[in-house]
Parts: sequence; structure tokens; C-alpha cells
Amino acid sequence: MGANSLTITDNRTGKTYELPIENGAIRAMDLRQIKADANDFGLMTYDPSFMNTASCKSKITYIDGDAGILEYRGYPIDQLAEKSSFLEVAYLLLHGELPRAAELDAFVKHIKVHTFVHENVKKCMESFRHDAHPMGMLLSTVGVLSTFYPDAKRIFDGEARYHHVIRLLAKMPTIAAFAYRHSIGFPYVYPDNELSYTGNFLSMMKKISEPKYKVDPILERALDVLFILHADHEQNCSTNAMRGVGSAHTDPYSCVAAATAALYGPLHGGANEAVLKMLQELGSVKAVPAFVKEVKEGAGEKRLMGFGHRVYKNYDPRARVIKHLAEQVFEVTGKNPLLEIAVELERIALQDDYFIKRKLYPNVDFYSGLIYEAMGFPTEFFTVLFAIPRTVGWLAQWTEMLLDPDQKIARPRQVFLGARQRDYVPMESRG
Ligand code: CMC
Repeated sequence: MGANSLTITDNRTGKTYELPIENGAIRAMDLRQIKADANDFGLMTYDPSFMNTASCKSKITYIDGDAGILEYRGYPIDQLAEKSSFLEVAYLLLHGELPRAAELDAFVKHIKVHTFVHENVKKCMESFRHDAHPMGMLLSTVGVLSTFYPDAKRIFDGEARYHHVIRLLAKMPTIAAFAYRHSIGFPYVYPDNELSYTGNFLSMMKKISEPKYKVDPILERALDVLFILHADHEQNCSTNAMRGVGSAHTDPYSCVAAATAALYGPLHGGANEAVLKMLQELGSVKAVPAFVKEVKEGAGEKRLMGFGHRVYKNYDPRARVIKHLAEQVFEVTGKNPLLEIAVELERIALQDDYFIKRKLYPNVDFYSGLIYEAMGFPTEFFTVLFAIPRTVGWLAQWTEMLLDPDQKIARPRQVFLGARQRDYVPMESRG
């Protein structure tokens, strides 16, 4: 078979097998031929949490966790954050190439005509309790959208599918802003399509009685950059949920609801909220050394939120951009007093053996919450600010999955260790 192969000897049988290596991977199904005897099911790999399993081939996002590199369709994240806009990046993720001026213009217009939601969607949202978590509202309302667009089930009709992709990109900010207005008991603000994607979002969040909301250009751009940084991150937990649910050929609204649910968790998108709570609980720089000691001695029970990453074993490149962005935002909003505590935490952690040995560095969530808070977003809303831009990543990955002939319904195997073939025991004989 040549050099690009793997030779395996099964010591149970003494047989040798040669498996092809393609793109740095062997196919797990090639292991199935390795059997202890004729009745054996065949060899599997055991990989809880997908620590070393590639579930797809993808051309969307590249990460080198050791070198701290993140690229969308080959473009480095820092260049996109500096020079691009969120909708341009959204186009790039979906189509694979940066748009020409006319293409971007058409894309933006297409999104703008879909920003409104059906009045009954609004009524659904009105029925939430006043203190409902905005992520709970977001994930259920985006799921509700599937009932408004039954033709979203036509996922193999390219035109219909793309239409729903655009609808989702257009409506996520509207639903998110409605969730916020609901939580503070304010009337919902309808989209203003003369504004930019982030400008309109800020207007729906913050407008009171003024005829037109005046967007601060620095905050508008800062939010746009944060949206760029959060747009995709290859096969993370929520993207895996999107692809997994999508592999059953479920409509995109229901898939995005599932992905949003995955993002809600404190180990994933919920971490930015957890970071802020941690910093608030610390209260002052003086409390930092004792807290770090507690984290180290807690044997993983207590974590330094906003630190560590499954893939990055280096400084998260997004965290670097965000740290710099924070300075620009604080010039408009005034400095967030929690920044001092965050900087001190980072300083101490980065020179501590515990964190160095485990390669734990600040991730995207460490500084983003400080910016969101300075911009006046409540802590509970932070993960929603992650979900809005990540929607495009989910949709790009979902589309790629649907068009990939290698993909089938996601259905992992298990290593079964439970009891087998026992006779039913009647209640009176159970002791
Ligand atoms: N604080 C203290 N110790 C940590 C931390 C942390 N934040 N993260 C990992 N460790 C330790 C962990 O206890 C373990 O130590 P030991 O080897 O002694 O048992 C070691 O580092 C490896 O940790 P792990 O849990 O096996 O690593 P993982 O790849 O399964 O987890 C993670 C990755 C992001 C879930 C984890 O680092 C974590 O819980 N971080 C805090 C939450 C957070 O900031 N999440 C946001 C991730 S970035 C945004 C996103 O993609 O959603």
C-alpha cells in the first residue's frame, strides 16, 4: 500500500493489517475488519468527548491550537477583525470567498428584508415569565420559527435552504433583542433596516422614545468585531450539536435551537457570563491570590472561568483582539472596574506552574464579558451575544454537512459494559 499507510498487528490473532492514511487520519471503519474471531463485531475506537476523532472533512475554519492560529476560509482572524465587517465575514463563511462589492450589497439587502418576525412570534415571546433567561427564550423562539416556515423541511432544495439561512441570520438579532426587552418589561422595538446589522441590533435593544436611535460608531464597530470573532470555531460543542441534529435531516430552525441549547452551557458559550460572575464575586484585586490557590487546590472542582480550551494550548487569538478592543470601548463607556481584577488574574495565572503545565491561557470569554458589561448589556445576556454571530457558523457547517456525500445520520457506537440476558424478577422476589 506504500508509505502513506498504517500497519497494525493484532496480538490476539497475530494477523497484520495495512490501513490507508488519508489527510492525517485513518478511517475508523477500516478497523472493523480486525476481528478476534469470526463472530467478533470488529475493532472500534473508544473516544468519549471526541478527543481525537474527526467527525467530518471541512473547508470552513482552520485552528492550530498549539500555535494559536484561527482562520476563516484561510483568512487570519486578526485581519478579518481589523479590516472586514460581520456580514462580509458571514458571506465568506457561507460562500467560501470574500464577496465583490455588488455581491455584498445584495447579501446585506437580502438580510435586511427578513429582519422582522411574524407578530405571532412576538406573542409567543410575550408569554415567557418576566425573569426567563434570555438564552431559554432565544432557543425556544428560534425553534418556534420552524412552525412558521414548514417549507424549511426542504433542506435539499438549494434555493429554499439558502432562503432559510438568510432568514435565520436576519431574525436572530430581532429575537435576541425582544428577549432582552421582555426581561426589562419594555416594549419590543421593531428593526430599523436603515441601520447596519449591529447598529439595528443596538437600536432594538436600547431605543426608548427617540424617533431614531443614534448609534455610537465606536460601540457599533466594537460589537461588529466581537461578532466576527465569534462567527465560527470549527467542530465545537454547539456546532457538533448542529451537525448531529442536522444529520437527521431536521429543519434548520430546530437545528439552530439545538445548537443554541449546547451553547447555553457554562463550559461553552455560558462561560462569558460565568467569568463576569467570578470577577464580581472576587470584588477586588486583593482577593485574586487566594482565589487562584483555591482553584489549584480544588482538583478541577473550581475553575478559573475564561481560561483553558480543548483546542488552544496557547493564547486564544480572539482573546488578544478582544483585549485590545476593550481599551477602545472603555474610552467611550469609561473603564470597567472589573478589568483590574481580570488583568491581575491573568498575570498571576500566566506565571503559575499549575496553569503553565496544563497550558491554560485566557480564551475568548475572558475579556468579552467586560466589554459587554461596559456597553450596558446585562450578564445574563452575554451568551445571547455569542449565539447571534455563531448562527452563521452553524449554518455554514450545516450546509457543508448536508452536501457532503460522506455524511450520514450521526450515530456513535458504544462499549457496552452492562448486564446481559437476565430473566425478569417479579416485585415480590426482589429482596
Ligand atoms: N481552571 C482551572 N483548571 C482548569 C481549567 C480552568 N479553567 N480548565 C482546565 N483545567 C484543568 C483541569 O482541572 C485538568 O487538570 P488535571 O489534569 O489536573 O485533571 C486540566 O486542566 C485539563 O482540563 P480538562 O477539563 O480535561 O480540559 P478540557 O479540554 O476537557 O476542557 C474547557 C476545556 C474549556 C471545558 C476547560 O478548560 C474549562 O472548563 N474552562 C473554563 C470554562 C471556559 O472558560 N469555557 C469557555 C471555552 S472557550 C469558548 C467556547 O468555545 O465555548
